Amino acid sequence: MRHTRSFMPALRALALAGLAAVSTAAAASEVNLYTTREPGLIQPILDEFKKDTGVTVNTVFVKDGLLERVRAEGDKSPADLLMVVDIGNLIDLVQGGITQPLKSDTLNSVIPANLRDPAGQWYALSLRDRVAYVAKELDINTLTYEDFADPKYKGKVCIRSGQHPYNTGLIAAMIAHNGEEATENWLRGVKANLGRKAAGGDRDVARDILGGICDLGIANAYYVGRMKNAEPGTDNHKWGEAIKVVRPTFANDKSKGTHVNVSGAAVAKHAPNKAQAVQLLEYLVSDKAQNMYANANYEYPVRAGVKLDPVVASFGPLVVDPLPLAEIAKHRQQASKLVDKVGFDQ
Ligand SMILES: [Fe+2]
Repeated sequence: MRHTRSFMPALRALALAGLAAVSTAAAASEVNLYTTREPGLIQPILDEFKKDTGVTVNTVFVKDGLLERVRAEGDKSPADLLMVVDIGNLIDLVQGGITQPLKSDTLNSVIPANLRDPAGQWYALSLRDRVAYVAKELDINTLTYEDFADPKYKGKVCIRSGQHPYNTGLIAAMIAHNGEEATENWLRGVKANLGRKAAGGDRDVARDILGGICDLGIANAYYVGRMKNAEPGTDNHKWGEAIKVVRPTFANDKSKGTHVNVSGAAVAKHAPNKAQAVQLLEYLVSDKAQNMYANANYEYPVRAGVKLDPVVASFGPLVVDPLPLAEIAKHRQQASKLVDKVGFDQ
Protein backbone atom coordinates (compact mmCIF):
# COMPACT_ATOMS: atom_id res chain seq x y z
CA MET A 1 0.00 0.00 0.00
CA ARG A 2 2.68 2.36 1.03
CA HIS A 3 4.48 1.70 -2.24
CA THR A 4 1.39 2.21 -4.32
CA ARG A 5 0.62 5.47 -2.60
CA SER A 6 4.03 6.91 -3.22
CA PHE A 7 4.08 5.52 -6.75
CA MET A 8 0.86 7.23 -7.84
CA PRO A 9 1.94 10.80 -7.09
CA ALA A 10 5.26 10.02 -8.77
CA LEU A 11 3.42 8.93 -11.91
CA ARG A 12 1.26 12.02 -11.79
CA ALA A 13 4.34 14.18 -11.38
CA LEU A 14 5.89 12.48 -14.40
CA ALA A 15 2.75 13.03 -16.44
CA LEU A 16 2.66 16.70 -15.39
CA ALA A 17 6.31 17.12 -16.25
CA GLY A 18 5.53 15.68 -19.68
CA LEU A 19 2.70 18.16 -20.15
CA ALA A 20 4.90 21.00 -19.07
CA ALA A 21 7.53 19.92 -21.56
CA VAL A 22 4.94 19.86 -24.34
CA SER A 23 3.53 23.29 -23.54
CA THR A 24 7.02 24.77 -23.22
CA ALA A 25 7.97 23.33 -26.58
CA ALA A 26 4.85 24.79 -28.17
CA ALA A 27 5.39 28.14 -26.48
CA ALA A 28 9.03 28.26 -27.50
CA SER A 29 8.01 29.38 -30.96
CA GLU A 30 5.99 32.45 -30.00
CA VAL A 31 5.72 35.54 -27.89
CA ASN A 32 2.79 37.90 -27.37
CA LEU A 33 3.51 41.59 -27.63
CA TYR A 34 1.06 44.29 -26.54
CA THR A 35 2.05 47.71 -27.79
CA THR A 36 0.76 51.22 -28.32
CA ARG A 37 3.42 51.84 -30.98
CA GLU A 38 2.52 52.23 -34.64
CA PRO A 39 2.59 48.99 -36.67
CA GLY A 40 4.58 50.65 -39.47
CA LEU A 41 7.44 51.39 -37.10
CA ILE A 42 7.63 48.18 -35.14
CA GLN A 43 6.52 45.46 -37.59
CA PRO A 44 9.70 45.42 -39.72
CA ILE A 45 11.79 44.82 -36.56
CA LEU A 46 9.47 42.00 -35.44
CA ASP A 47 9.72 40.41 -38.89
CA GLU A 48 13.52 40.44 -38.60
CA PHE A 49 13.27 38.89 -35.12
CA LYS A 50 11.20 36.04 -36.54
CA LYS A 51 13.73 35.52 -39.35
CA ASP A 52 16.68 35.51 -36.96
CA THR A 53 15.21 33.44 -34.12
CA GLY A 54 12.27 31.48 -35.52
CA VAL A 55 10.08 32.95 -32.78
CA THR A 56 6.74 34.30 -33.99
CA VAL A 57 5.56 37.56 -32.48
CA ASN A 58 1.81 37.87 -32.08
CA THR A 59 1.24 41.58 -31.79
CA VAL A 60 -1.76 43.27 -30.26
CA PHE A 61 -1.72 46.93 -31.28
CA VAL A 62 -3.57 48.79 -28.55
CA LYS A 63 -4.49 52.42 -29.10
CA ASP A 64 -5.13 53.14 -25.44
CA GLY A 65 -6.13 51.34 -22.28
CA LEU A 66 -3.25 48.86 -22.42
CA LEU A 67 -2.88 48.84 -18.64
CA GLU A 68 -6.63 48.37 -18.08
CA ARG A 69 -6.75 45.56 -20.61
CA VAL A 70 -3.90 43.55 -19.12
CA ARG A 71 -5.30 44.11 -15.64
CA ALA A 72 -8.72 42.86 -16.73
CA GLU A 73 -7.14 39.75 -18.24
CA GLY A 74 -5.56 39.04 -14.86
CA ASP A 75 -3.34 36.00 -14.37
CA LYS A 76 -4.78 34.48 -17.58
CA SER A 77 -3.36 37.33 -19.66
CA PRO A 78 -1.50 36.09 -22.74
CA ALA A 79 0.62 39.26 -22.73
CA ASP A 80 4.37 38.60 -22.55
CA LEU A 81 5.95 41.93 -23.44
CA LEU A 82 4.39 45.39 -22.99
CA MET A 83 5.83 48.18 -25.15
CA VAL A 84 4.81 51.82 -24.79
CA VAL A 85 5.99 55.38 -25.33
CA ASP A 86 6.69 57.87 -22.51
CA ILE A 87 8.29 57.27 -19.14
CA GLY A 88 4.98 58.10 -17.45
CA ASN A 89 3.25 55.22 -19.23
CA LEU A 90 6.09 52.83 -18.36
CA ILE A 91 5.89 53.71 -14.70
CA ASP A 92 2.10 53.43 -14.76
CA LEU A 93 2.49 49.80 -15.92
CA VAL A 94 4.78 49.07 -12.99
CA GLN A 95 2.58 50.86 -10.47
CA GLY A 96 -0.44 49.12 -11.98
CA GLY A 97 1.15 45.84 -10.91
CA ILE A 98 1.29 44.19 -14.34
CA THR A 99 5.06 43.90 -14.82
CA GLN A 100 7.83 41.74 -13.40
CA PRO A 101 11.49 42.49 -12.70
CA LEU A 102 14.29 41.04 -14.81
CA LYS A 103 17.99 40.48 -14.40
CA SER A 104 19.60 40.66 -17.81
CA ASP A 105 23.31 41.29 -18.31
CA THR A 106 22.59 42.16 -21.94
CA LEU A 107 20.03 44.82 -21.10
CA ASN A 108 22.12 46.18 -18.24
CA SER A 109 25.23 46.50 -20.35
CA VAL A 110 23.53 48.12 -23.37
CA ILE A 111 21.06 50.46 -21.63
CA PRO A 112 22.58 53.18 -19.42
CA ALA A 113 21.46 52.92 -15.79
CA ASN A 114 19.55 56.22 -15.83
CA LEU A 115 17.39 54.88 -18.69
CA ARG A 116 16.08 51.74 -17.01
CA ASP A 117 14.30 50.89 -13.79
CA PRO A 118 16.75 50.27 -10.90
CA ALA A 119 14.62 47.23 -10.01
CA GLY A 120 14.60 45.90 -13.58
CA GLN A 121 10.87 46.45 -14.17
CA TRP A 122 11.19 48.57 -17.34
CA TYR A 123 13.80 49.32 -19.98
CA ALA A 124 14.15 52.20 -22.44
CA LEU A 125 14.51 51.10 -26.07
CA SER A 126 14.81 54.43 -27.86
CA LEU A 127 15.34 58.05 -26.89
CA ARG A 128 13.28 61.08 -27.83
CA ASP A 129 15.34 64.16 -27.12
CA ARG A 130 13.33 67.33 -26.46
CA VAL A 131 15.20 70.01 -28.33
CA ALA A 132 15.03 73.59 -29.56
CA TYR A 133 13.84 74.34 -33.07
CA VAL A 134 15.43 77.63 -34.10
CA ALA A 135 14.84 79.72 -37.23
CA LYS A 136 17.82 78.64 -39.27
CA GLU A 137 19.01 82.13 -40.20
CA LEU A 138 19.36 83.16 -36.53
CA ASP A 139 22.74 83.17 -34.86
CA ILE A 140 21.64 81.02 -31.92
CA ASN A 141 23.76 77.91 -31.56
CA THR A 142 23.60 77.09 -27.87
CA LEU A 143 20.66 77.35 -25.48
CA THR A 144 19.65 76.32 -22.01
CA TYR A 145 16.06 75.36 -21.27
CA GLU A 146 16.09 78.28 -18.86
CA ASP A 147 16.78 80.64 -21.81
CA PHE A 148 13.23 80.14 -23.09
CA ALA A 149 12.04 82.32 -20.19
CA ASP A 150 14.51 85.11 -21.00
CA PRO A 151 12.58 88.35 -21.75
CA LYS A 152 14.74 88.86 -24.84
CA TYR A 153 12.60 86.19 -26.51
CA LYS A 154 9.31 87.94 -25.72
CA GLY A 155 6.66 87.01 -28.29
CA LYS A 156 9.09 84.68 -30.06
CA VAL A 157 8.56 81.26 -28.45
CA CYS A 158 6.28 78.46 -29.70
CA ILE A 159 5.43 75.27 -27.83
CA ARG A 160 2.55 72.80 -27.58
CA SER A 161 0.32 72.41 -24.49
CA GLY A 162 2.10 72.28 -21.17
CA GLN A 163 -0.08 69.30 -20.27
CA HIS A 164 1.18 67.14 -23.12
CA PRO A 165 3.28 64.28 -21.68
CA TYR A 166 6.33 65.49 -23.68
CA ASN A 167 6.17 68.80 -21.83
CA THR A 168 5.18 67.38 -18.45
CA GLY A 169 8.29 65.22 -18.73
CA LEU A 170 10.46 68.26 -19.46
CA ILE A 171 8.88 70.34 -16.69
CA ALA A 172 9.34 67.41 -14.28
CA ALA A 173 13.03 67.34 -15.24
CA MET A 174 13.24 71.09 -14.60
CA ILE A 175 11.76 70.52 -11.12
CA ALA A 176 14.28 67.73 -10.49
CA HIS A 177 17.15 70.06 -11.48
CA ASN A 178 16.04 73.45 -10.14
CA GLY A 179 13.23 72.84 -7.66
CA GLU A 180 9.54 73.69 -7.80
CA GLU A 181 9.71 77.43 -7.16
CA ALA A 182 12.30 78.08 -9.87
CA THR A 183 10.30 75.93 -12.27
CA GLU A 184 7.12 77.88 -11.57
CA ASN A 185 8.95 81.13 -12.34
CA TRP A 186 10.39 79.56 -15.47
CA LEU A 187 6.94 78.50 -16.67
CA ARG A 188 5.63 82.02 -16.09
CA GLY A 189 8.56 83.38 -18.06
CA VAL A 190 8.03 81.00 -20.99
CA LYS A 191 4.31 81.77 -20.97
CA ALA A 192 5.10 85.51 -21.15
CA ASN A 193 7.34 84.82 -24.18
CA LEU A 194 4.80 82.83 -26.19
CA GLY A 195 4.17 84.02 -29.75
CA ARG A 196 0.89 82.17 -29.73
CA LYS A 197 -1.18 79.92 -27.45
CA ALA A 198 0.55 76.76 -26.19
CA ALA A 199 -1.27 74.29 -28.42
CA GLY A 200 -1.02 72.11 -31.51
CA GLY A 201 1.71 69.58 -32.12
CA ASP A 202 5.50 69.59 -32.16
CA ARG A 203 5.71 70.05 -35.93
CA ASP A 204 3.59 73.20 -35.64
CA VAL A 205 6.59 74.82 -33.95
CA ALA A 206 8.51 74.47 -37.23
CA ARG A 207 5.46 75.53 -39.23
CA ASP A 208 5.09 78.69 -37.14
CA ILE A 209 8.78 79.50 -37.35
CA LEU A 210 8.46 79.33 -41.14
CA GLY A 211 5.33 81.50 -40.86
CA GLY A 212 7.23 84.14 -38.84
CA ILE A 213 5.06 83.68 -35.75
CA CYS A 214 8.04 82.58 -33.64
CA ASP A 215 11.82 82.40 -33.74
CA LEU A 216 12.33 79.38 -31.58
CA GLY A 217 10.48 76.66 -29.71
CA ILE A 218 10.68 73.33 -27.94
CA ALA A 219 9.80 70.04 -29.63
CA ASN A 220 11.04 66.48 -30.16
CA ALA A 221 14.03 65.89 -32.40
CA TYR A 222 12.62 62.90 -34.32
CA TYR A 223 10.01 65.10 -36.03
CA VAL A 224 12.88 66.98 -37.65
CA GLY A 225 14.09 63.69 -39.12
CA ARG A 226 10.60 63.13 -40.50
CA MET A 227 10.25 66.68 -41.84
CA LYS A 228 13.67 67.10 -43.41
CA ASN A 229 13.44 63.63 -44.96
CA ALA A 230 9.96 64.34 -46.36
CA GLU A 231 9.38 64.69 -50.10
CA PRO A 232 10.67 68.09 -51.34
CA GLY A 233 7.77 70.44 -52.03
CA THR A 234 5.60 69.08 -49.22
CA ASP A 235 4.63 71.21 -46.22
CA ASN A 236 6.59 68.94 -43.91
CA HIS A 237 9.74 69.40 -45.96
CA LYS A 238 9.33 73.20 -46.03
CA TRP A 239 8.81 73.33 -42.27
CA GLY A 240 11.84 71.11 -41.70
CA GLU A 241 14.01 73.25 -43.95
CA ALA A 242 13.06 76.43 -42.07
CA ILE A 243 14.69 75.34 -38.84
CA LYS A 244 17.86 74.06 -37.23
CA VAL A 245 18.12 71.96 -34.10
CA VAL A 246 19.91 73.11 -30.96
CA ARG A 247 20.06 70.68 -28.07
CA PRO A 248 19.40 72.67 -24.89
CA THR A 249 20.96 71.82 -21.55
CA PHE A 250 20.04 72.75 -17.98
CA ALA A 251 21.90 75.86 -16.82
CA ASN A 252 23.17 74.29 -13.59
CA ASP A 253 23.96 70.86 -15.00
CA LYS A 254 27.69 70.45 -15.52
CA SER A 255 27.25 67.35 -17.65
CA LYS A 256 25.49 69.48 -20.31
CA GLY A 257 22.83 66.84 -20.86
CA THR A 258 19.64 67.25 -22.88
CA HIS A 259 16.25 66.09 -21.64
CA VAL A 260 15.00 62.87 -23.21
CA ASN A 261 11.84 60.90 -22.99
CA VAL A 262 11.82 57.26 -24.08
CA SER A 263 9.97 54.43 -25.64
CA GLY A 264 10.41 51.28 -23.64
CA ALA A 265 9.13 47.90 -22.59
CA ALA A 266 8.44 45.69 -19.60
CA VAL A 267 7.84 41.96 -19.26
CA ALA A 268 4.28 41.21 -18.18
CA LYS A 269 3.79 39.83 -14.68
CA HIS A 270 2.01 36.67 -15.88
CA ALA A 271 3.95 36.27 -19.14
CA PRO A 272 3.30 32.71 -20.36
CA ASN A 273 6.39 32.96 -22.60
CA LYS A 274 8.77 34.81 -20.35
CA ALA A 275 11.95 33.43 -21.90
CA GLN A 276 10.84 34.57 -25.35
CA ALA A 277 9.79 37.95 -23.96
CA VAL A 278 13.31 38.46 -22.59
CA GLN A 279 14.74 37.20 -25.88
CA LEU A 280 12.69 39.77 -27.82
CA LEU A 281 13.55 42.56 -25.39
CA GLU A 282 17.26 41.77 -25.74
CA TYR A 283 16.87 41.62 -29.52
CA LEU A 284 15.32 45.09 -29.52
CA VAL A 285 18.56 46.57 -28.17
CA SER A 286 20.73 44.65 -30.66
CA ASP A 287 22.70 46.66 -33.18
CA LYS A 288 20.39 45.53 -35.98
CA ALA A 289 17.11 46.43 -34.24
CA GLN A 290 18.50 49.71 -32.92
CA ASN A 291 19.56 50.60 -36.44
CA MET A 292 16.01 50.02 -37.64
CA TYR A 293 14.61 52.16 -34.82
CA ALA A 294 17.01 54.96 -35.63
CA ASN A 295 16.27 54.95 -39.33
CA ALA A 296 12.53 54.23 -39.39
CA ASN A 297 11.40 56.81 -36.86
CA TYR A 298 14.52 58.95 -36.35
CA GLU A 299 14.49 58.19 -32.63
CA TYR A 300 17.90 58.18 -31.00
CA PRO A 301 19.21 54.70 -30.27
CA VAL A 302 19.61 53.68 -26.63
CA ARG A 303 22.59 51.60 -27.73
CA ALA A 304 25.88 53.40 -28.29
CA GLY A 305 27.62 53.26 -31.64
CA VAL A 306 24.58 52.71 -33.86
CA LYS A 307 24.67 54.33 -37.28
CA LEU A 308 22.31 57.32 -37.37
CA ASP A 309 20.13 58.71 -40.12
CA PRO A 310 22.13 61.58 -41.73
CA VAL A 311 19.63 64.22 -40.59
CA VAL A 312 19.79 63.00 -36.99
CA ALA A 313 23.56 62.67 -37.22
CA SER A 314 23.73 66.33 -38.28
CA PHE A 315 22.48 67.37 -34.80
CA GLY A 316 25.69 65.95 -33.33
CA PRO A 317 26.08 63.31 -30.64
CA LEU A 318 23.34 63.31 -28.02
CA VAL A 319 24.46 63.90 -24.43
CA VAL A 320 21.61 62.67 -22.25
CA ASP A 321 20.63 64.36 -19.00
CA PRO A 322 22.22 62.01 -16.43
CA LEU A 323 19.37 62.32 -13.91
CA PRO A 324 17.58 58.96 -13.71
CA LEU A 325 14.30 58.99 -15.60
CA ALA A 326 12.74 57.25 -12.61
CA GLU A 327 13.70 60.28 -10.52
CA ILE A 328 12.38 62.78 -13.09
CA ALA A 329 9.11 60.88 -13.40
CA LYS A 330 8.40 61.36 -9.69
CA HIS A 331 7.76 65.05 -10.41
CA ARG A 332 5.18 64.52 -13.17
CA GLN A 333 2.15 65.37 -11.05
CA GLN A 334 3.84 68.42 -9.59
CA ALA A 335 4.66 69.49 -13.15
CA SER A 336 1.08 69.10 -14.30
CA LYS A 337 -0.19 71.11 -11.32
CA LEU A 338 2.25 73.94 -12.04
CA VAL A 339 1.06 74.13 -15.65
CA ASP A 340 -2.47 74.70 -14.37
CA LYS A 341 -1.34 77.05 -11.63
CA VAL A 342 0.40 79.46 -14.01
CA GLY A 343 -2.37 79.11 -16.63
CA PHE A 344 0.24 78.02 -19.17
CA ASP A 345 -2.29 76.77 -21.72
CA GLN A 346 -4.77 79.65 -21.27
FE1 LIG B 1 5.36 62.15 -31.06
